[in-house]
Amino acid sequence: MAKEPSFYITTPIYYVNAAPHLGTAYCTILTDVQARFRRLEGYDVKFLTGMDEHGEKVADAAEEHGMTPQQWCDAQAPLFQKLWKTLEISNDDFIRTTEPRQYHAVQYLWERMEESGYLYKGSYDGWYCVPEETYFTENQVRKSDEASHTEGQHLCPDCGRPLERVQEDSYFFKLSAFQDKLLKLYDEHPDFVQPSFRMNEVRSFVAGGLQDLSVSRTSFDWGIPVPFDRKHMTYVWFDALLNYMTAVGYGLDDSKSKEEYAYRWPAQYHIVGKDIIRFHCVIWPAMLMAIGEPLPEHIFAHGFLTVRNKKTGKAEKMSKSRGNGIDPQEVIDFLGVEGYRYYFMTDVEHGEDCAISFERMEQVYNADLANSWGNLVSRSLNMSAKYFDGKVPTIPEGWKSQDNPLQTIAQGICERYCSHMEKFDYAGAKDVAMELIHAANHYIEDTTPWAVAQDPARKDELTSIILNLLESIRIAAHLMTPFMPTTSAEVLCRLSLEDEVGSDETLATLCEWGRLKGDVPAAKGKALFPRLPKLDR
Ligand code: ME8
Ligand code: MG
Repeated sequence: MAKEPSFYITTPIYYVNAAPHLGTAYCTILTDVQARFRRLEGYDVKFLTGMDEHGEKVADAAEEHGMTPQQWCDAQAPLFQKLWKTLEISNDDFIRTTEPRQYHAVQYLWERMEESGYLYKGSYDGWYCVPEETYFTENQVRKSDEASHTEGQHLCPDCGRPLERVQEDSYFFKLSAFQDKLLKLYDEHPDFVQPSFRMNEVRSFVAGGLQDLSVSRTSFDWGIPVPFDRKHMTYVWFDALLNYMTAVGYGLDDSKSKEEYAYRWPAQYHIVGKDIIRFHCVIWPAMLMAIGEPLPEHIFAHGFLTVRNKKTGKAEKMSKSRGNGIDPQEVIDFLGVEGYRYYFMTDVEHGEDCAISFERMEQVYNADLANSWGNLVSRSLNMSAKYFDGKVPTIPEGWKSQDNPLQTIAQGICERYCSHMEKFDYAGAKDVAMELIHAANHYIEDTTPWAVAQDPARKDELTSIILNLLESIRIAAHLMTPFMPTTSAEVLCRLSLEDEVGSDETLATLCEWGRLKGDVPAAKGKALFPRLPKLDR
């Protein structure tokens, strides 16, 4: 197995009830940026995403489209996979809960649960929210007083949609037995849930008391059967959460799988939206405690992308089941894939909700990418090519230890950047990279290389100026890689630094000042980020 430390990171597995939208893509890109960043830090990353294919909600969607659930899932899978490819998602694995490996792992889980003593048979009588696949008790639900619903209808306390009454035989997981253990976990690992305000929410939810959880269903059949009682189907969340372990060989007996499981589990990060923190921060650790498996190190919960409800004027969550999602293709057409990634990653505070705005996208793209980063690359490469015969200048001895303002900023830049990235503060990390980019643009204004180039006696000075600019660009390209991998690779190739693209070296090494190669072709190329025309919406 690899020598580097493992870094295992996951997204939620998405329901296949409808095509992915900007919100679904947002979480996947957020995770991708962290995965790419950790690879650059030198970790042996496994990045998992996939699809949650069982449950009532997916079965309903299939029925609406006149397909069997399996046909429906098979038809939806390529939509997700194609979008991830377009958005440059670098996942190492893609799991579908209808795969045999998941079936096997879920069977194994049931056996372990049965042995654990935390499972008992009973019957469930209460409320169920199909869009959220969640149970609610009588005193959790709210009654409708809105004209949009039948009066007195029972509504989901989380999403506000009508609930279904469910009465059926069921297995229960003794979640109530884990209250103290969970509270102890939160106390001992205050960064188990991030950001910290989410940890507080989770803690007070658990402190309020936990109820046992119904984990099998008998009133419908789109799921994985309970091995020792086959008319029971596994509750979709019990099935879904396990995907994280299935994908690293849980429950398999061969030595390769066992080795992989020992190496990869527990995960370092589960990235989830704030809608599913109870499942990940309460139920999932309790399940793992019950079967004696290690707990994931961290759960990072992001906020929602919201859209304005045309009727009420209020901001609401963009959602597949509400059908108010914006197609990612709209943003791709507007900003290009890399501009899209850059905008959502660096302009959204990741723990918070964010209202979508095309005006803001335009501002950020034009200011940061067209006018700053793109402009710096094109001006600098143009000057290098023009004054040095299509090349990067030959590097004179002692150049890299010459004092200059750009090198000063580049000192320690990697550590500053990493400390933000590790906390999912992508805006802070971007600011670190942008500081160098802005300084380099100012440096051009201050040193006026076009004037220096007029005087053959100042050739050495011109050489230093251009080298300092190109070296700053080289470093900035590496820092931008997790956000915009293709443009960064393009920039490095224009500097004839193909061997720094996807190199095994760590980001810290790549960001050391003075690695630029001299006397190699410098390609001007096309504008990386053409300015957007004025928005007309
Ligand atoms: O909950 N803004 O799947 P799901 C930001 N299958 N993120 C959003 C979003 C929005 N408007 N809408 C969705 C499920 N997401 C389960 C998960 S995991 C073991 C099982 C993202 O299709 C966000 O990350 O409803 C949210 O948590 C996830 O999609 C839920 O996707
Ligand atoms: Mg959902």
